[in-house]
Amino acid sequence: MQANPTLSITLFGITFKNPVWVASGTFGYGLEAREIYDVSKLGAVVTKGISLRPRLGNEPPRIVETPCGMLNSIGLQNPGVEKFLKELYPEIEKIDTHFIANVFGETEEEYVEVCLALEDAPKIVAYELNVSCPNVKKGGIVFGHDPAVLGNLVENTKKRIKKPLLVKLSPNVTDVTEFAKVCIDSGADGLVLINTLLGMRINIYKERPELSTKTGGLSGPAILPIAVRMIWQTYERYGSAVPIIGVGGITTHEDALEHIYAGASAVQVGTANFYDPLSPLKVIEGIGSFMKEKNIEKFTQLVGRAHRLDIKG
Ligand code: FUM
Repeated sequence: MQANPTLSITLFGITFKNPVWVASGTFGYGLEAREIYDVSKLGAVVTKGISLRPRLGNEPPRIVETPCGMLNSIGLQNPGVEKFLKELYPEIEKIDTHFIANVFGETEEEYVEVCLALEDAPKIVAYELNVSCPNVKKGGIVFGHDPAVLGNLVENTKKRIKKPLLVKLSPNVTDVTEFAKVCIDSGADGLVLINTLLGMRINIYKERPELSTKTGGLSGPAILPIAVRMIWQTYERYGSAVPIIGVGGITTHEDALEHIYAGASAVQVGTANFYDPLSPLKVIEGIGSFMKEKNIEKFTQLVGRAHRLDIKG
């Protein structure tokens, strides 16, 4: 039994107290949860997508439950980077953990401008480029579904910023590893896999789609096996090139460990925040207990572990 396993990790030059983060769009800007628990216990908070100008998002209804998950079509509602810095950032500064800004733009220049506006905010340690939101007509997924456009965005953003650049990839593609490669070749410091899957529900009694936008992004336990598969494939091909951050369907530490065994160097808890707000803390504790039981000293020993086992043996 390992007495004191180390959960802290260093990725892209930054040391995180543990590998359990909360996912963009499921935790606001980290402020509301302070009423429930000590947010500084988290490895990091990834903010709701921040754009250059304020966005009201899509018309309601924009959330609907699904079997083992939910569909959302928020449309990247946010106050814009200026108001974020003025009104939310001073509160964020009081929380003793790292923040990663999920950044969204309708044009390449807008992505860069949002990052540049955040360069002098020390609590924001890295950017997560959102090229995968399926709920907007301009920007986002338009970048994430075209390898050439994605490569330009990553390269042109990277060369103008100082902080590490992560890219959150879309699962709504045939081969996610193609997009992972483009990001790595263009200078990304890390990959975040996966955003939501495009889905739809119809209310047969009202005889219309449930969401105002008709389609939305599917998240929650239903997508866990898809996320694990995409992390596995990406780690198998490019695992040593950049860290992979796993997100998709994590509620328990066992779910998180599936991501980690597949190749994730850290994980994000997302939709579970809505139905079990304490789940990120339970995941941190569960990973620690698992390491103790298996006599594993360092968290990094778990990353990609399933690839090193001979399944025929
Ligand atoms: O619609 C939304 O705000 C969702 C964003 C995302 O999936 O990145």
